[in-house]
Amino acid sequence: MDSCNPFAAEPLTSDQLLARFSALDEFLLAHQQLWRPTPFTRRQLDWESEHTELAQWLRSRSLEQAEAAHNQPQLLEAPQPFRTIAQRATQLGQICRLAGVEQPACNPRAALDVPGRKWQQLEAFGSCLHFHEKPRHWLDWCAGKGHLGRYLAQDSAALTCIERDPELVKSGQTLSDKLSIQANHIALDVMEEKARQTLTAAQTPVALHACGDLHVRLLQLASAAGCRQLAIAPCCYNRIQSTQYQALSSAAKQSRLQLDRQDLRLLQCETVTAGRRVRKQRDQSMAWRLGFDLLQRELRGIDAYLPTPPLATSWLQRPYAEYCAELAEQKQLSLGSRHDWASLEAEGWRQLAKVRNLELVRGLFRRPLEIWLLIDRALFLQERGYQVRFGTFCETRLTPRNLMLLAELPDNSLNACG
Ligand SMILES: C[S@@+](CC[C@H](N)C(=O)[O-])C[C@H]1O[C@@H](n2cnc3c(N)ncnc32)[C@H](O)[C@@H]1O
Repeated sequence: MDSCNPFAAEPLTSDQLLARFSALDEFLLAHQQLWRPTPFTRRQLDWESEHTELAQWLRSRSLEQAEAAHNQPQLLEAPQPFRTIAQRATQLGQICRLAGVEQPACNPRAALDVPGRKWQQLEAFGSCLHFHEKPRHWLDWCAGKGHLGRYLAQDSAALTCIERDPELVKSGQTLSDKLSIQANHIALDVMEEKARQTLTAAQTPVALHACGDLHVRLLQLASAAGCRQLAIAPCCYNRIQSTQYQALSSAAKQSRLQLDRQDLRLLQCETVTAGRRVRKQRDQSMAWRLGFDLLQRELRGIDAYLPTPPLATSWLQRPYAEYCAELAEQKQLSLGSRHDWASLEAEGWRQLAKVRNLELVRGLFRRPLEIWLLIDRALFLQERGYQVRFGTFCETRLTPRNLMLLAELPDNSLNACG
């Protein structure tokens, strides 16, 4: 595997990108059976009969043990083939920290309206934004209240923020005015045709955590408009309109790896920044659903998962019997005779421990899949003449979606818009 450095400082050559892409592609294809099926929806996974020792070992562990290994499954001393796969996943998932440059001191008032962790993300993102040309006009894409754009525009560059939610646009404009930042907050759905006209070659688009289709749209429109430079930190790759992932680059289009939305959800299964209360709620909701899953299989006489609609968290404060009755009603199932709710709930929790431990296998593939997707974006831009770099812009404790892709047209390239 390449050493880390070339991936952070210098633009990546197409050979480097393609070599890494095909190594990831091969790894993901070879182990599809391990990372595609979701333990939450299947009582038994196909690979368990092949790797019985690993399956039994994982199934015998507690929920606390699963939680402890969740963020770093590659460190788990689990039976083979876990350790061999973990080693390869670690190699392939290796990614450098982008070099950060110290930022000029900013107006302390600017930080007041930004939640603490978001502010740290902005500082980290901003510190990695070095381009050959000094940006003169920032375009904050899917900007929310425009915190990122405002943070960057303290360098006196112009600022346009695009956001669909009119409330966020209004609050964003108020915040910019309060800080005397010349910003234009525009309410616009970036998927609409007229979004194309908002981009000009003179802008430097940035997108922090724009979901699936939204950041892809930016790459397409910005490269068509001839923007000389841009930076994105993608997130929620599964938020796409199509059921199948639409590859962007020639290499990904030629790959045998066909991803659907469910596959892409693997990246969302990482809990890093959630607090204790949220984790507890998530566990209870999953355990209760798993208990209901056992019940519905019995009621229907069909040993298959049945998707159920989400219920408000207030349902978790109600007795378990009421929770199950609500789900049963939503799925038009008759509960029939009395049930032992306490045992069913306890069984749900036991199932949860198994599910969370079995998920550690899938967890090994999270970073490789994320980098595969990032390289698809990098290759797409490279095919359009951009020089690209990528790496992490902050630690995962600030956000698990901490990868950043920077692209700029080389000095000698002609600007598409003159
Ligand atoms: C995850 S938030 C990121 C906000 C901001 N970049 C940040 O990091 O704080 C995604 C934002 O995209 C906006 N959004 C979603 N769909 C959009 C669309 N079709 N057009 C424009 N904005 C959209 C949402 O309203 C939300 O504010």
